[in-house]
Amino acid sequence: MRDLFAEDPSRFDRFSIEFNDLLVDFSKHRITDETLPLLLELARHREVDAWARRMFDGTAINNTEGRAVLHTALRNRSDRPVYVDGKDVMPEIRTVLERMRRFSDAVRAGSWTGYTGKPIRDIVNIGIGGSDLGPAMVTEALRPYRQPGLNLHFVANVEGSDIADTLAGLDADTTLFVVASKTFTTWETLTNAHTARDWFLAAAGDEKAIAKHFVALSTNRDAVEAFGIDVEHMFEFWDWVGGRYSLWSAIGLPIALAIGMDRFEELLTGAFEMDVHFQESDPERNLPLILGLLGIWYNDFFAADTYAVLPYEQHLALLPDYLQQLDMESNGKRVTRGGLSVEVPTGPVLWGGVGGKGQHAFFQLLHQGTRLVPTDFLAPLETFDSPGEHQTIMMANGLAQTEALMRGRTGDEARAELEAAGLAADEVERLMPHKLFPGNRPSTTILYRKLTPRVLGSLIALYEHRVFVQGVIWDINSFDQMGVELGKQLAQKVYPELTADSDTRAHDASTNGLINRYRRFSAASRK
Ligand code: F6P
Repeated sequence: MRDLFAEDPSRFDRFSIEFNDLLVDFSKHRITDETLPLLLELARHREVDAWARRMFDGTAINNTEGRAVLHTALRNRSDRPVYVDGKDVMPEIRTVLERMRRFSDAVRAGSWTGYTGKPIRDIVNIGIGGSDLGPAMVTEALRPYRQPGLNLHFVANVEGSDIADTLAGLDADTTLFVVASKTFTTWETLTNAHTARDWFLAAAGDEKAIAKHFVALSTNRDAVEAFGIDVEHMFEFWDWVGGRYSLWSAIGLPIALAIGMDRFEELLTGAFEMDVHFQESDPERNLPLILGLLGIWYNDFFAADTYAVLPYEQHLALLPDYLQQLDMESNGKRVTRGGLSVEVPTGPVLWGGVGGKGQHAFFQLLHQGTRLVPTDFLAPLETFDSPGEHQTIMMANGLAQTEALMRGRTGDEARAELEAAGLAADEVERLMPHKLFPGNRPSTTILYRKLTPRVLGSLIALYEHRVFVQGVIWDINSFDQMGVELGKQLAQKVYPELTADSDTRAHDASTNGLINRYRRFSAASRK
């Protein structure tokens, strides 16, 4: 890459794209004027555009579950109807958005009151996976827009500390529980929701009070009713919304509660604008397409098996967690849509963390480790809380890292530095290999003007479509998650064995040994 930059001063202009308030620089990649057209040819060959049309049109592209994939309809800000099985789903979507507006306005204004007549002060979202990560990430990212005095909590883990620690600081009469589950059958979520309900009833004493303090976000009316939440207080979505794509649906209610419905709709608008860009831009200027192809380039041609996302804005700390589900649950697959083995590596291990902190922790491996790790750097031109120096120091660090990864430090440069520091010749030779940076390590830099709801909406949709492009190229179904099922089934089997009267021998020796260790321990502690 050093040579490519030296040969072509216009490389940045040619390999960067501006879209609304985003600038995406992909010039620090191992690409030439030959590479990109070849990658675009691959996309043409795999018919990415035709698959995108099918997705936006409501064709059942989730072929294993026979479902449409229409998270894009949730943020369709145009008049265009979207049909599922011949029925336009836009009126239902608008009705739920309107209900979310009325409810979030009332809670935020303090006119929705609890059983003692006091306004809501704390909102506890109980959900897991897509029913947790999206709203948790977005409400953290948009923290500066949150209504002061309305506190948000997210409980996902079934390990009891999560809910216990959360409830410890709360008053039942000013707390609203949002039980978020697409299926409303998820064991962890229902366990946490029942614990919350018991805690609440211990204080309120009257089941009637539940109506003021529990709402459900789900596709499953019967299960919501069976739990004891009136469907009046259920915000609906539909089976054509995948869990990890659901923050745009009723699952986004905590976002609307935190930042207000107008801003939630700005988030939808930002995503819609990216949807239009993805559908209408020329391939050479199409951000999700290009970023998807660059991912394929390293994953399949350079055997890079991980991919790091490094936001420099503190409020984006949860973005890597969120993207981990989006990418790994979508593209962590090993068979094609038709059930044959995929011949190349598919979805990479996505990881990352706030760049400004990672520099002092894991960046060592990015610079000098033996693995090639493509990276995304994300940084704002303007932050909410960075007075003067903070912003400039943050930016200097982030940009310098991308340069260091690309340029590296040659042996000659390392030697010159050591000599300049006055080291003896043998000491210079001894240290030289340790000071050398191979460089040529690829990164994409996304600079955005400011982390507004609209910018965030566009960013998330950019990553969603990037994942989509890759799934199409690998010919996999990015929209099911059958790999999570086996563990769930086995957990149901293990559960009674943990409290049985005698040891189990139903499993392998390791699993038997561990189950029996726990069983005996818990039996002894119950005595
Ligand atoms: O187990 C994985 C998963 O099904 C995710 O795909 C989903 O986001 C999560 O569990 C939660 O599911 P639900 O919203 O139905 O509770």
